[in-house]
Amino acid sequence: MQLQSSPQGIVAGSIPLFAGHPAPELLPMRGIGTVLAGWDERPPLRAFNYGDEQGDPKLLDFLLARLNDTEQPGIGRENLMIVPGSTGGLAMITRLLTSAGDTVLVDAPSYRDALHIFRDQGLRLRALPIDDEGPRLDALAAELERLAAEQVIPRFYYVVPNFQNPSGITVSKIRRRAIIELSNRHGFCIVEDDVYSDLRFAGSTPPSFYALAAGENVLRLGSFSKTLAPGLRLGWLMGGSRQIAEFVDSGVLRMGGGANPFGAAMVAEFCHSGAWQAHVDWLRGKYRARRDVALAALDRSMPAGVGWTRPAGGYFIWLRLPRAVDVDELEKRAQAQQVYFANGRGFFPEPADGAHFLRLSYSYLSHDDLRKGIGILGTLIAQLAG
Ligand SMILES: Cc1ncc(COP(=O)(O)O)c(C=O)c1O
Repeated sequence: MQLQSSPQGIVAGSIPLFAGHPAPELLPMRGIGTVLAGWDERPPLRAFNYGDEQGDPKLLDFLLARLNDTEQPGIGRENLMIVPGSTGGLAMITRLLTSAGDTVLVDAPSYRDALHIFRDQGLRLRALPIDDEGPRLDALAAELERLAAEQVIPRFYYVVPNFQNPSGITVSKIRRRAIIELSNRHGFCIVEDDVYSDLRFAGSTPPSFYALAAGENVLRLGSFSKTLAPGLRLGWLMGGSRQIAEFVDSGVLRMGGGANPFGAAMVAEFCHSGAWQAHVDWLRGKYRARRDVALAALDRSMPAGVGWTRPAGGYFIWLRLPRAVDVDELEKRAQAQQVYFANGRGFFPEPADGAHFLRLSYSYLSHDDLRKGIGILGTLIAQLAG
């Protein structure tokens, strides 16, 4: 198959170690094509009209059965809606639950594009440093005390609970429980952006914040972008029934109908046929192999003083550079050799905190390009470290 153009931000001929996209050969083009071919005979009319505000009913059916089975029994239809990707869900939550000047808590580092959405809304960001189990509880408690002294209640805490973008770490169950307790005590909501949990390579994922809190005061986002295709712009949002009813009743949905009826009807058919689960099982093996190649290349290529995470799923590895190496200088030299990574500065509310960090993604690149790109980075870091 001949691809016409490179996706978002990728320079042709480069090694885009920054790209948090599925590789072209991992997209389910044939399976989606089969669904569309079937529509030749029996087109579902609902796919071509304004959709139910809550989202495609058949996709809701599939998700409800699956979430009740794999995550937690007792999730009702009133707790779920379809959104235009996790991004669309987060933008809606931010638009409807916050006003300019409100405060939200975020991890440091956190997902760069979520920080961008919060900044667009004029929100104040309070950063929680993380370790390998998630946000540090001492930092969270101290921040909450400072905010209480200023008589500020944060609107929510935004967290990527599994295989975080950018660090690859997963928040431990103990931390999840402790954060929920603090959220109840201090009156803020938790927004859980979980787009990677289906891409676990081994072991099991801790119960979600939503499950641990029995659905109280937690909004939980999921997505088909990482297990099917980002171009579908399709995800889901779980929450309390009153909250979901308010979102479903919002002006945007009243005017335009539910998220992406065409894509949702197509994905519903793909999922009900069993093809989604088969595709995810296949993807896990592919991404695990890429993760292993990337980690082996790091072990081989990196000089002393460089540290990195070893994710058990998802797309990302987080690198800590020696103090002598500034990430901007490394970025300049790497780009001169056609190697692009995600500069750590973008992932911190205070960009200077990211001066010695960078994110690598293994989702998009071939094994050879992973080895080559990481090898070049290792040589450059060794030169800069002196
Ligand atoms: C943590 C996180 N949330 C959301 C998204 C985007 O999800 P979607 O394509 O469903 O909007 C990404 C993609 O990189 C992500 O890493």
